[in-house]
Order: sequence, then structure tokens, then C-alpha cells
Amino acid sequence: MKPRVLSGIQPTGSLHIGNYLGALTNWVKMQYDYECVFCIVDLHAITLYQDPKELLQKIEQTAALFLAAGIDPQVSSVVVQSTVKEHAELCWLLTCSTPLGWLERMTQFKDKSSKQDSVSDGLLQYPVLMAADILLYKANAVPVGDDQIQHLELTRDIAQRFNALYGETFVMPETRLPTVGARIMGLDDPSKKMSKSEAGSGHAISMLDEPGVIRKKIMRATTDSRPAVDFDSGGAGVLNLLTIHQAFTGWSDDQVKRHFAGMRYGDLKKTVAEAVVAGLEPLQERYRRIMADPGYLHGVLRESADRVRPFADATVRLVKQRMGIYTD
Ligand code: TRP
Repeated sequence: MKPRVLSGIQPTGSLHIGNYLGALTNWVKMQYDYECVFCIVDLHAITLYQDPKELLQKIEQTAALFLAAGIDPQVSSVVVQSTVKEHAELCWLLTCSTPLGWLERMTQFKDKSSKQDSVSDGLLQYPVLMAADILLYKANAVPVGDDQIQHLELTRDIAQRFNALYGETFVMPETRLPTVGARIMGLDDPSKKMSKSEAGSGHAISMLDEPGVIRKKIMRATTDSRPAVDFDSGGAGVLNLLTIHQAFTGWSDDQVKRHFAGMRYGDLKKTVAEAVVAGLEPLQERYRRIMADPGYLHGVLRESADRVRPFADATVRLVKQRMGIYTD
């Protein structure tokens, strides 16, 4: 049997080219070598308040973008987390053996809660729900960005503690970080990873941005005080633009160097913008076709949920039995 992979994205904000190049394109490549479950984690999204109408739209939009990016629903399962109730159920069961101190120490919790007047209990439980997503399917590998390393460590701690208390039950999941080249930084501030929640229209290029918007954002991207590309001393902003170009075109390092060395920043930006526009165009066309047929999308989501539910149910039953909880 193939090893299992699970990953997830929150249906908040708009998926951007950092999500596309750092996550989705990797998932697409992995899907034929692994048994994959890709989740739209709506239960995670609501740990911070979401406008209900907008949330529902974002869930469908995110699912459609997974498919438009090349996730093949015949081989991979595209699951809206809340439609498989075992995610929430396993989360509760794991919560009861997770020390509060582990959760209070998580940097993402400290970060997010410091920005709010009051936080929901759900925000504290966020990493337990993520552990449940992963452990539910006994995933062997979890492709994530480096901001999720601590969550994966906690997942293994939770699994280990459960196994120690109740006997060998969970598989230890491995963190799978993307290749170096795929780390896309904010256009306005190349010291920060491109982020969905970052406000400011010059920060990220959405996967659904129109060509005119893409061009405008790239032309305004932060570079440095030099006039032209210098590979020995180029600033982070210029390197980021080159990374984006390379990721969309698949050019080799040599090709990139030969083409861009000494090029003035205005021309560099024009070239990068055209590569992004051309790279996103077929994807956007597929997205429009998928969104024009909601019956198809809903069918895919239902089939995926139906496909993974028996596995999820078996895990929850096993966990309950281990804990001495009655199962019917
Ligand atoms: N916390 C992840 C993020 O914000 C999203 C997520 C939820 C996830 N459950 C997951 C990622 C399970 C990988 C596996 O990016």
C-alpha cells in the first residue's frame, strides 16, 4: 500500500501564488506516489470569527482552486473538514490527554491571542484539531510550510502520549517541508513570507488576480537601491522576483542567470509579470469552468468525504476502544 499524505489549507483570505508554488504544486506532484487527503479546514478557520456568507464562498473557492491547480479527485481526496465528523470527534478525544501547558506555549497561539481582546477556547485547541486531522488518517507524511513545524512536533507529542497511556495506536507523522526555491515572500516586504491574512493589496498576488492587477502589483514590488540585477549582491526583493519567475517557468539556474544578469529592474518586473500572467491563465480558466458547474464541485466533495469516512470511522472506533469508551 502507498504511504499516506495529509495536508490542509484554511478557507480564509484568497489563495495566493505562495500557496500555489509552495503547497499546491507539491501536492499535485505527490498525488500519484502517495494516498493523499487534502483538506479545506473550515473548523480551523472559525477559531477566529468569519463572516458566514464569505466563509461558505471561500470554502467552495478553495476547493475549486485545488482542482484547478491539478489535484485529481479520482486519485486524491479533497475533503471539507467539517463534512467528516470524525475530525471533531477525534479532536475531543485527544484534547482530554493533552496537557494545557503544551497548548499555552504554542507560538501561533501566543501570537494570535496577543492581537485580540479576547480569544475563543477554539483558538487554544487549534493544534489539537490539526493533530486530529493528521492522526485520523494515520498519515505518514505531512507537507507544510516551516511555520507549521511546531504544530507537527506537537502532533507527534500528542500521538506519543496517547500511545503511552493507552497502547500503540497512532503512526508518527513526518514533517515534509517544500524545496527551498518555493518560499515566496511578500512583494511589499520581502522579509516576510507571503501570507493570506496580511492586509495591503501590494503584499500578495492572488491566484485569481486579473492580468492588469498582477502587472500593477509586480511593478510596485519592493526591490533595492541598485538599478539592475546583480546576482552577487541582489537584495531579498529582487531574489524573490527571480524565484517567482523560475517557479512559473521552470527555467534552470543557468538560464535565469544568463537572461537576467544586468537587467534593469523595470524590465525584470515586466518579464516576471508576464511569466506569472501566463502561468496563472490556464489555471484561472479551469477555475471558471469548475465554478460554472457547482453540481460537479459538490459531487467531488461528497465523493471524497464518502471515500475517506470509513477509514476515519475505524480510527475513532479504535481510539474509543483503547480508551474504554463504549462503541456500538
Ligand atoms: N494549520 C495549517 C495552516 O494554517 C492548516 C492545517 C490544518 C493543516 N490542519 C492541517 C496543515 C493538517 C497540515 C495538516 O497552514
